[in-house]
Order: sequence, then structure tokens, then C-alpha cells
Amino acid sequence: QLQTSNQNTTSCIKVLPLQTKKQDFSHLSAKQPIGIFDSGVGGLTVAKEIKRLLPQENLIYFGDTKHLPYGEKSREAIVGYSTKITQFLLEKNCKAIVIACNSATANALKEVLELVNDKVPVIDVINPVAEKVSYEIHNNVGVIATKATVNSGLYKKSIRKHNKFIKVDELATPLLVPAIEEGFRNHPITHSIIYNYLSNNKLKNIETLILGCTHYPLLINEIKQYYGNRVRVIDSPSIVANQLKMILEKNNLLNENNLKPKYHFYLSDLTKNFEKISKK
Ligand code: DGL
Repeated sequence: QLQTSNQNTTSCIKVLPLQTKKQDFSHLSAKQPIGIFDSGVGGLTVAKEIKRLLPQENLIYFGDTKHLPYGEKSREAIVGYSTKITQFLLEKNCKAIVIACNSATANALKEVLELVNDKVPVIDVINPVAEKVSYEIHNNVGVIATKATVNSGLYKKSIRKHNKFIKVDELATPLLVPAIEEGFRNHPITHSIIYNYLSNNKLKNIETLILGCTHYPLLINEIKQYYGNRVRVIDSPSIVANQLKMILEKNNLLNENNLKPKYHFYLSDLTKNFEKISKK
């Protein structure tokens, strides 16, 4: 177990439940980059946190802008995209793969793990968050996410696997990703979408809200504003970054003497939106 160093994540996080058998990563070197992927800019919220927590790591980011949004795609399509990107990141010699996309985690984690076949650690964005929330025993948890994530029911399953007393309500909020990708932050359109979704009856009695899409932290201020202090909004990117750090540390894979880290960004389609939003 890890006592995390980040002030927002002070409770214990255990190792990934899906890679539980004893793994040997001694063939990997700390100098290798960390591969991170998402459908678009969303995964940058995770990449940013990784960069903050592990400033000496080399990072390779892949944004699948050609196939965005994943949240609207079939499971088969998401599995196809995710495994192809994973293959690409392995060919780029990554020492760990971070699936910085909830829709990909919810639909393709098993296939990604099969493909990786224990060659490198895989860190996803749902299991560490579900585990942390379940340890902190919040009675009423709400999850907002894409359709592909909500339809999988993975948040509910993962949280209740650890704590069956927690009530979990998931709501699909599909308009948020296009609003973010269009750059509508701090915009009346986004405020009204947020109001419409968060006032849904399903989320009426929640005490904790998980942002179940890596795009959503880009709207965290607006979401917090809606709730005031009534609801705790979980900081998923920081939980995921801490999980990654713990796994690298445990396997002696932390890059500690790299004063000039390299950041490489790959996109399946170079869109104007990506250029604009990624800066934020
Ligand atoms: N950022 C992604 C997620 O965490 C996907 C958004 C999308 O492409 O629909 O689910």
C-alpha cells in the first residue's frame, strides 16, 4: 500500500486489481518513456498531473483525434483503436502504458492487458479511483461519464467490489466532451449543459462526484461552482498519477536523473481544436 504524497490523495491506494499476479519488469529501464493515450485532449489532464508529480519522466502522448469521441463508439471500435495505440506505444519503447481515457478503460482494458501480456505495467483511470473512493467510504457516489463508460457499468462494479455498501449512480453526460473540444469553457452553453445534467434526479443525493471522463477536469471549476461545498469532486488525474508513481517506484523504474525530459505528442489527425485546447 502507498501513502500518497499528494495533499489531495492522502489515503491508501493498493496495486491495480487487474494485474495482480507477480510481475517481473526487470527487463525495463527507468530511462524509457511513459506512454499515455486518450481520444483527444482529455488525457492531457492526466499527462499534466504525471508531469507535475514525475517531472523527470519522458512522456509520449497519443491523442486519437481522428476517432473522437470514443464515448459514442461501439465496444468493438474502442477495442480496435485502443489496442492499435497500445501497440504503437510499445513499439515506441514505453516502460508503462497509461490508458488516460475512461471510455477505453471501460471497454478495452482486458484486451489492452492481453496485448501487453505483462511486458510493461498498465495503469487505467477507473480502478485506482474506484478503489480510493471505496476505501474512503462515501455513502452516495455519483459518476458522470460518456455513454460508453456508463453503459459498461464499470465504476459501479469496481467500487462495489471493494465496498458493497456504497450507493453508486452513474449518469451519461455526452454533451460535455464536444463542448470542451469546441473550447466552450466558461461559456453560457457549457453552464447550461452542466446545470441540466447535474440537476438530474439520479444525482440528487450524492455526496461525492467522480468525473468519469478525463476531459471533465477541464470543467472542474464550473462543476464545483454548481455544487458549492455540498459535494466533493474527486481529483482523478492526481489519483492516477500517484498510482503510476507507486508502480514505477515499486519496480525501480522511476527516472530520477533526467533534467531534460522529452515530451512527444502524436495525433491520428492534427486538428485546429487540439492545437488550441491543448495549450489550456
Ligand atoms: N476522455 C475520454 C474519457 O475519459 C473520452 C472522451 C470521448 O472521446 O468521448 O472517457
